[in-house]
Amino acid sequence: MAAVTAESGAPSVVTALYVSTKALHLEAERTGFIADMLRGAASRRGYALLLRNLQPAYREIEDGLERHRHNPILAPLARYRLARAAAIAADLAALTGPDSDDQPPLLPEGEAYARTIAQAAGGDGSRLIAHAYTRYLGDLNGGQIVKRLLEKSLGLGEPELTHYDFSAIAEPAALKAGYRQALELAGAAAPDPDAIIAEGALAFECNIALSIAVQRSLAGEAAPS
Ligand code: HEM
Repeated sequence: MAAVTAESGAPSVVTALYVSTKALHLEAERTGFIADMLRGAASRRGYALLLRNLQPAYREIEDGLERHRHNPILAPLARYRLARAAAIAADLAALTGPDSDDQPPLLPEGEAYARTIAQAAGGDGSRLIAHAYTRYLGDLNGGQIVKRLLEKSLGLGEPELTHYDFSAIAEPAALKAGYRQALELAGAAAPDPDAIIAEGALAFECNIALSIAVQRSLAGEAAPS
């Protein structure tokens, strides 16, 4: 990977993540429940199931970043506090209602995604950079498209879509640029950039596996017993 940052001349971890996950990004868009969402065929129940299974992944990213907030590598990310776990909990409550008997299940792929992040948070925590990149830059980019799709296809409104609302933190374009720069700074300070690039592929693979599992679980629910 020959990409370098203009400022430091150091290899750009974010550009390397972008390039190395490009094919996986395309696959993520074309696979499982995410593909259903993109063609306007998602159900409210399905979206709630996806969110429920992303919740532990976000918790692990956010707990990990919090634990490492004084770590000089990850400090630039900790300053941003993009934390989505509370917003996801609020969206889930709005989507499914207060009846605790009807909550979507946690699937093995949701647990596996969270476990992968927990492992990445070990040691100097620098592999968390890949997970923060995948989820938060994803939310700030494609997430904004998904939000509009869900508004149109499912009639969801603000109470169900706070996951994609970063307005309390900053204006989205500035946030995207700022967070990208923070990821860049963190990546430049990390001792093993290749481990971060490899973790990026793993993060996308976890998302693809989850998307397939959500689609499969919904098909199982719909099948006559
Ligand atoms: C729902 C379908 C999706 C759509 C329509 C979508 C769309 C987009 C778009 C338009 C961009 C900006 C591309 C660019 O700047 O070149 C983007 C960036 C990104 N997306 Fe997605 N995306 C989707 C799903 C996902 C998923 C499932 C993930 C991973 C969990 C993801 C992670 C990312 C990341 C990390 C970026 C930032 C790339 C970078 O600037 O380095 N996206 N997405």
